[in-house]
Parts: sequence; structure tokens; C-alpha cells
Amino acid sequence: MRKIVILLLAAVCTQSVNSQSVLSIVGAGKTVDPYKYSIVKKAEFSKAAVSCAHPLASEIGAAMMKKGGNAFDASIAMQLALAVVYPGAGNIGGGGFLLARKSNGELIGIDYREAAPSKASRDMYLDKNGNVQMALSQTGHLASGIPGTIAGLFATLDYAKLPFKQLIQPAIDLAEKGFVISEREAAGLNSTRESFIKYSTRPTAFVKENKWKAGDTLVQKELAATLKRVQKEGAKGFYEGETAKLIVEEMQRGNGIITLDDLKDYTAKLRSPLEFDYRGHHIISFAPPSSGGILIAQMLKMIEKYPVGSYGFQTVKSVQLMIEAERRAYADRAEHMGDPDFYNVPVKTLIDETYLAKRMSDYTPDKAGSSTSVKAGIIKESEETTHISILDEDGNMVSVTYTLNGGYGSRTVVGGAGFIMNNEMDDFSVKPGAPNMYGAVGGEANCIQPGKRMLSSMVPTLILKNNKPYVVVGTPGGTTIPTSVYQAIVNIIDFSMNADDAINKPKFHHQWLPDEVMVEKDFDADVKKQLQAMGYKISERAAIGRTEAIRILPNGKRETAADKRGDDSVAGF
Ligand code: DON
Repeated sequence: MRKIVILLLAAVCTQSVNSQSVLSIVGAGKTVDPYKYSIVKKAEFSKAAVSCAHPLASEIGAAMMKKGGNAFDASIAMQLALAVVYPGAGNIGGGGFLLARKSNGELIGIDYREAAPSKASRDMYLDKNGNVQMALSQTGHLASGIPGTIAGLFATLDYAKLPFKQLIQPAIDLAEKGFVISEREAAGLNSTRESFIKYSTRPTAFVKENKWKAGDTLVQKELAATLKRVQKEGAKGFYEGETAKLIVEEMQRGNGIITLDDLKDYTAKLRSPLEFDYRGHHIISFAPPSSGGILIAQMLKMIEKYPVGSYGFQTVKSVQLMIEAERRAYADRAEHMGDPDFYNVPVKTLIDETYLAKRMSDYTPDKAGSSTSVKAGIIKESEETTHISILDEDGNMVSVTYTLNGGYGSRTVVGGAGFIMNNEMDDFSVKPGAPNMYGAVGGEANCIQPGKRMLSSMVPTLILKNNKPYVVVGTPGGTTIPTSVYQAIVNIIDFSMNADDAINKPKFHHQWLPDEVMVEKDFDADVKKQLQAMGYKISERAAIGRTEAIRILPNGKRETAADKRGDDSVAGF
């Protein structure tokens, strides 16, 4: 695969090469070597481009397109590869959203969010005194919703060109023969070791006698066997038969409630994408059960009437305005958003310009707003996830965010099947007003009900300019996802940044409650001081999101960028 411009080679993971084990992905002009790979942070490609959290998955995605596949093929192969090489978030035990625009203009939204098991109930995480038992919604067997990823991949296959057997083969090879782990992955596995032991009932490939170190090979034989069943039997290889039996047996060895029928009945759903305009650009984003599309629409529309570009990037003036839009949007999230099949989410009103202008009517420049006085609008009408951005030669745009929720999910590995289950049930509002692991609060709209999908912040997004593909973007980060995507969009549209700067500049985040602004460590110290002087409470936090973006330049080149905050890497040709 020929990189047109490689601007930065950040790191190389390597081990003595065992040529016997090199992955059989040829046809892309090279073989993908799981024992020696490099992280490429940004590049320009003339035809097809991908960006995601792991270099091996990126190379596999590009290779599939080189072999004649399209962006949908790449998305399937990459999600399966990430399920092996990025176990903290890549998954088959979780769920996600895929948003796409085909080159003919057709929009596609696939919802494969996890669903609450049939035995789930509103108060299942409360003790007899009504107190929230957070450990139960966040770790172990009871924390899992019914996984959606495999159903999502087969729903995506309708738009792909290559046979599924071929798309899953690299993941099988990586699981069976192993791959070299990075320092970051070694640290992640080491710090999760005790939880894996506590919440899994059988030995797992993720726990090793001594500590993991960079350059070690991670082999996942049981996961390879599961993937082979999916290769042979299709979605039934996961939702029925041996794999389903192994999931249910694992549930029964712990306090899990997922049944064989829950698995058999799970389906991915098509959702109409949410669309709106911002400063002459057309934004396409994900509708409920994601809160993300509504949130970015609300935040962008709230700031649109202000000349943000002329305020300057991360000046006090632009940051304060953006924070106050964030505060108001997240107040609405807590009150009005949930699974649209169970709760009537007032989408139209929430993104209505008059409604949003009213929401900003009490905005006071130079003075901190307050989440005590700013509440959700009155409406009368009835840290682990991962993102993949792909653009193919024909102009098909695919943006996928999928997740186990927390890093390494519930930490329960399905015995005999080798994959980690999600802890997505924590994204429900387990009790009105009680914060979840991201501090998000909610109520009726997002209460637990059997079969319901928990509200998400994941927001795969696409931007069109002059009705033509312009940007593919998205990120992990729990509740910070919509604010990260919002800032990436403002950086590109208002501050004319390239893709790399747009995703890698420092970020800030306000989510209504708690009433504080979280900033990354490299956020400007002076701006921070001035915001504090206005009355804002500021707290520093670790990295916000890992955003992947592709932007099409006027000359047609795909400017492709991977986030600096992880092992994220681009590939293409
Ligand atoms: O769907 C959601 O909003 C969350 N489960 C996403 C979790 C996440 O992004 C964690 N990553 N850092």
C-alpha cells in the first residue's frame, strides 16, 4: 500500500518476525505483519482512507478496499480485527452505531446497541433501601446488555461487496496466531488483571502469570474458535448454538440474566439519520437511542448566530459561548432522551431553531451560567469505546462507533468463547438523578425496561460541503463524545483547521451536571484563569476522546488523521 505522504511515524511495535505467522492479507500490495507494525498518525491518500484505534485494524481495512471491497467491507473487517487487537473496546460482546452515506447519496444508520435482557427491571441495581449498587451495573455478569455487534456486522453486509468469510479471516488469524501488543495495551491488561480474575469464572487469555510488557504476543484461541463459528454459521454462530450456550452458561455461573431467547431475538435496527445544516455545511449524525446527534445539533445551532470564527480558537469568548451551549444541551439529554421505541423523544423540538434560541436567551457573556438555574427545556409535545472513520474510492463514507462501555467492559470473559462482555447497562439511568460512571444523570426517558436500548452518547458523524462528501468523524469518550465531535466540527468549519489539528488540539467539556468545566492538561492556562474569574469551576482531566477524522481536500486527496491520545493510526492508498 503506497502512502502518498507520511507526515509522522509515531511508534513501532515489533518482535522477532515469525514469517510462518504473518497474516494472509495479500492483495493490498503488502502483507500485514502482526509482529511488526507502525503507528501512522496522519497521511494524505488519493483513493481510500481509514483511521482507527489500532494500526493492524487500519491496515486490514485498507487492504480490504484494495482487494475490491468498499467502505462497508472495511468497516466489518476492522471491527472484527479490533475485537482481537484492541480488547479494551473493540468487541463482539458489545454494540454500536454505523452511519454511512453511499456514493449515490443514500443515508444508512444501523443501530446495534445492546438491549436490556428480558429479565431486566427498572430497580435491578438498587438495594432494598433504594440505594444504587454501582458495582453491579458496572462490573461482572449483571452489567451486560444483550450484545449487538455481530448483528450489526451482518446488517452492514447488505451494503458490502466481499464475502463475509474473507472479511473475518484476518481477525481469526490474529486471534489464533497472536499479535504483538503495545506498551499501552500491556498497561491496560496489567491494570485490569485483578478484575478479570474476579469477574470471570474461567481462565482467560488476558491474564498471564507475569505482567504483560510491550512486545509480548497475545494469542486468543477461544476467541478464534468463536470467530470461526461465526464464519461458518453467520450470525447464528453467535446468537444460537455453541456460542449462545457458552454465553448463557457464563451468565449462570455468575449473577447474569441473559437467556438463550434474549440472544436469539436480538436484531439490529435501521434508524433514519439526523440531519441539519451548520454554516453552509450539511451535518449527518446519529438519532436516538444515541443522544449524540441531537446534542451536536443543539450545540452547533445554539452558537451559529455568533461569529465564533472571529472570536478566535479557544479564546475566553469562544470557549465560554461553547460551554454554555454544552450546559444547555446536556440538561436536555438528562430529561428528554432515551430509546425512541420506548419513549417519545421530542427530536424535532429539541433541534428547532426557535426552541434553541430561547434556550440561549439567558446566556450572559463574561459570567458563568449555573446548572441550578439552567434546567432542561420545557417541551410540550407529545472511558471505553472506539471509533472508525472510512472513505472509499467511490466516495462511500462510513463512520462507526462501537463499544463495551467501560475499558474491557464488565471484565467478564465468556468462558470457552474468549470475548469480553459489555457493561452497557450502566448507560441506563439506574435511578432518577443518580450519576452513572460518566456522571450522566437521567430519569424516566432512560429507565430500564426489558428489550430497551440504553441511551448512548456515541455519535458517528458525516459532513457534506456543497452536497459532496467532506468529513468523516467520530470518537469514544462516554459523555464527552458529543462535545469532542462538536469541537472537531467547530475547529474545521469556524477555525479552518486541518483534520489533524481539529482532533488533536486541547479540549474542554461541560455536561450540565456536575456543574464544572473539564479541561485537558494542555488547555491554555490563561484562558483557564479567566474562566475561573468569571465563576467557572474548572477541573483538569486525562485525555478527552480519541477522535478519528478524514477530510476531503479540494484536490480530492483524503486528509486522514488519527488521535495522538492513543495507538490510533491511519492507513490507505
Ligand atoms: O454509549 C455510550 O455513550 C458509552 N457507553 C460510551 C462509552 C465510551 O465512550 C467509553 N470510552 N472512552
